[in-house]
Amino acid sequence: QTEEADVMLLSVPSYACQRKTTLQNHNSVFTDALTLLAENAEMEDEDGRGVAFRRAAAVLKALPKAVTSMKQLNGLPCLGDHCQRVIRDILENGISSEAEATRQSERYNALKALTGIFGVGAKTADRWIRDGIRSVAMLRDSGHALNRAQLAGLQYYDDINQPVTRAEADAIGDIVERAVASVLPGAQISLTGGFRRGKLTGHDVDFLITHPEEGREEGLMPKVVSWLDSQGFLLYQKTMRNSYLESKDGPARPPSSMDRFERCFSIFKLTTEQKQEALTAEAPTESQHPESQMKCGELKETGHAGHKPWRAVRVDLVVSPISQFAFALLGWTGSKLFERELRRWAGYEKAMSLSSHALYDNVQKRYLRAASEQEIFAHLGLEYIPPAERNA
Ligand code: CTP
Ligand code: MN
Ligand code: MN
Ligand code: MN
Repeated sequence: QTEEADVMLLSVPSYACQRKTTLQNHNSVFTDALTLLAENAEMEDEDGRGVAFRRAAAVLKALPKAVTSMKQLNGLPCLGDHCQRVIRDILENGISSEAEATRQSERYNALKALTGIFGVGAKTADRWIRDGIRSVAMLRDSGHALNRAQLAGLQYYDDINQPVTRAEADAIGDIVERAVASVLPGAQISLTGGFRRGKLTGHDVDFLITHPEEGREEGLMPKVVSWLDSQGFLLYQKTMRNSYLESKDGPARPPSSMDRFERCFSIFKLTTEQKQEALTAEAPTESQHPESQMKCGELKETGHAGHKPWRAVRVDLVVSPISQFAFALLGWTGSKLFERELRRWAGYEKAMSLSSHALYDNVQKRYLRAASEQEIFAHLGLEYIPPAERNA
């Protein structure tokens, strides 16, 4: 076969929100390296570099085939010199020497371990490393003052760093469903985040809560939280009230990508029993399916003597009024890069400001209403991309 025949012409549009990105990734050997470099840049507080690596990885994730030669990169967006060097290295040597050197560096490993603690960001990790703390064990022994979130993060470190399965997410969903139904009948909950995009595991479980009657959702979060707490489901929670109405800088333009909904960052206590109940309640006839038998087997494993019969799971809860629901759903479904690209597209290509609350047209000087995600994509002049294809 000639080299010419080997070169497939690849082309993708430049914004991630213009492309369909499924979980099927033909270029993981490249995207793993670029993602590690992105992660490292983010932990070093170099967000610009981090985004550049993430954009490059997202372009490769959207390709229909594995890249086999540098020529195929011609005309692809978001691949700067640095990223091309990483890709060439992998094509020629099988690995990226830069990614490998990073993976093995003491600093990267210390940053990864410390920012892996719930409640610890890049700046805190850096400060601790300068104090000579390079691991979770060293932090435990250091006697450093920790805030409530960090204490919980340390206490449940192993559980929180173990991926959450879909079965566990469904079991948490049942509990949140019960909580919401008992404090506000008629309220609706939606699974958002990675699980809505079809991921099989996640670092947490994300839910969006609303009520079909505008205003009925006000003050809902504290009630849901106290119900959950009274039933012993919460190991940790921090609730933030809605600050959207008080904001002065305009609802569609929050100072960061952070929104202002009533929200709760929490750690749930999920027992093996609850997990089992969720499985049997949702699929009463599924015992004939080999897949569900496998899941039950796994559950037995984790529940056997010597192990604690429960695990800690990170859960994010958000409450939105129905009038903002479509924006909140779109904003909390992710991926983070997809969201970032949607906002960039809105601003640069459409002169609009998109947030998890609203879409503002800066030319017409008015808010554009939407009752569904489809309507928001239409306002933005984008083809609708379903959640399973937002895995940029
Ligand atoms: N999000 C947000 N504000 C935050 C945290 C998260 O708007 N303070 C949004 C993110 O932009 C993302 C969604 O919530 O769209 C889910 O975030 P996260 O749970 O961090 O990521 P997932 O995509 O769910 O991935 P994972 O499976 O690792 O949880
Ligand atoms: Mn560079
Ligand atoms: Mn998530
Ligand atoms: Mn989350």
